[in-house]
Amino acid sequence: NWTMQEFIGKEIARIRDICGPKGRVIGAVSGGVDSTVAAKLMHEAIGDRFHAIMVDNGVLRLNEAKQVEHMLKENLGVNLTIVDASELFLSRLDGIDDPEQKRKIIGNTFIHVFEAEASKIDAAVNEEEKKSGEEAKGKGKIEWLLQGTLYPDVIESISFKGPSATIKTHHNVGGLLKDMKLKLIEPLRELFKDEVRALGRLLSIPEPLVKRHPFPGPGLAIRILGPVTREQVKILQQADDIYIEEIRKANLYDQISQAFAVLLPVKAVGVMGDKRTYEQVIALRAVTSEDFMTADWYVFPADVLRRISSRITNEVSGINRVTYDISSKPPATVEWL
Ligand code: XMP
Repeated sequence: NWTMQEFIGKEIARIRDICGPKGRVIGAVSGGVDSTVAAKLMHEAIGDRFHAIMVDNGVLRLNEAKQVEHMLKENLGVNLTIVDASELFLSRLDGIDDPEQKRKIIGNTFIHVFEAEASKIDAAVNEEEKKSGEEAKGKGKIEWLLQGTLYPDVIESISFKGPSATIKTHHNVGGLLKDMKLKLIEPLRELFKDEVRALGRLLSIPEPLVKRHPFPGPGLAIRILGPVTREQVKILQQADDIYIEEIRKANLYDQISQAFAVLLPVKAVGVMGDKRTYEQVIALRAVTSEDFMTADWYVFPADVLRRISSRITNEVSGINRVTYDISSKPPATVEWL
């Protein structure tokens, strides 16, 4: 893979060149492939002058913020700040049912939290440089914003608005921040997804992360079909965690493009011991897809589904029934909202 090795060398040189010896860059990371690869590349180029920010929005998967912290900070050495804003997000989302409303609230709150954290870091950096007698004006302050934009995003925003762009307001974390008064730095803008993965491997990003399924910016909020509440988030986190764990144990994760659980806002009757229960339903979704514009539902071995269903109904309180989604895209979409 000499061409990708060459790309790394050139890109690092380009980043160093445009940032200069003091320039600082901030960027949002989500734990996904693109933002992790972009962050690692920035770190290789300018070390701790790249500041990564991860916002915990309260609708991440179980233990996700901790796992991202471990990966980026401890394993990859990236200068990372995790902002736990889950209370703020969850209080704003509380009781919200409408999917576009959920997306809007999460998007706006994200921008607000990210910008506040960016100014904090900026102030801290200024303070530090004053102390070391380097406060020459404008120098060393944060001037750049990292964006993990890929080539397909570039083409899409120039010429093509696919159906999903108009049906749902899609945006990933970085895309929301374009209006900040910062210059953009986009090291992945010439790469396709496969190339980002290859780049990730060369940058020693562990294989499970390189192959991670995509996760939407609005997170579990768009996988709770009714109103978002803390209790609903908790139920879905547990079910989702069991689902993904069993998929991994069965060695099927890499055959599936995206798998997740959905929490339905209906109750069904069940039985436990000699008691009648009246509890919620989990729908499982797994698809294979090239580009997520179309997708096929994935055919699981029956014993894997049996294990998943039995664990979810036994271990997640509030759930007494599990169903499997056998819809392709189109006419369904990948997400339920
Ligand atoms: P759909 O549901 O449109 O999903 O078939 C296609 C892909 O897009 C992801 N998706 C989102 N990603 N913000 C995101 O960052 C969103 O609001 C959003 N909605 C859907 C979905 O997970 C799938 O990979």
